[in-house]
Amino acid sequence: MSLAELSHILHYSNGLTDKRSGFRASPSAGATYPIEIYPVINNVEGLTTGIYRYSVSAHELEPIREGDFRQEMAQAALGQRMLIEATVVLVLSAIFERTTRLYQERGQRYILLEAGHIAQNTSLVATSMGLGICAIGAFYDEGFNRLLGLDGQQESVLYLIAVGKI
Ligand SMILES: Cc1cc2nc3c(=O)[nH]c(=O)nc-3n(C[C@H](O)[C@H](O)[C@H](O)COP(=O)(O)O)c2cc1C
Repeated sequence: MSLAELSHILHYSNGLTDKRSGFRASPSAGATYPIEIYPVINNVEGLTTGIYRYSVSAHELEPIREGDFRQEMAQAALGQRMLIEATVVLVLSAIFERTTRLYQERGQRYILLEAGHIAQNTSLVATSMGLGICAIGAFYDEGFNRLLGLDGQQESVLYLIAVGKI
């Protein structure tokens, strides 16, 4: 996959669609935007393999950790080979307080719904580009939180989306 293809996927998954309002490609309850996307790069032209954070405001990738994390991801996902074979794995996490401070307990539900909206956007854009995609829910939270350096309380991993050439 090229960097331009990844850029396209990220933009249509959860990128800024209106700079003035800050609204994005995916809806968010009260525009609180609790979901973060961490692309784990296995094989993207022009990008060092490793973990990045997608900065929505700048439409940029911020490096988090350099390295090959394919085996570690597969191990944390019950041995699923998709984590090894995917070109890129989008790890969706939530910073819960962004939404729960406005909606209290109900915010928990909104956060899960929003992860689904983003994953569906990813699915649509990747499919339109002739790429394969699979949503992955079977994994150990602790494994991915450790990989990303998340505390699992304020911010925790929610969902994985494997994207690749088919
Ligand atoms: C919440 C959720 C979790 C899923 N977790 C996994 C998973 O851990 N491993 C996997 O291979 N597929 C997983 N899937 C993909 C489903 O198996 C897949 O969507 C289903 O078989 C239908 O195939 P399709 O999406 O290609 O139409 C998950 C899908 C969803 C919506």
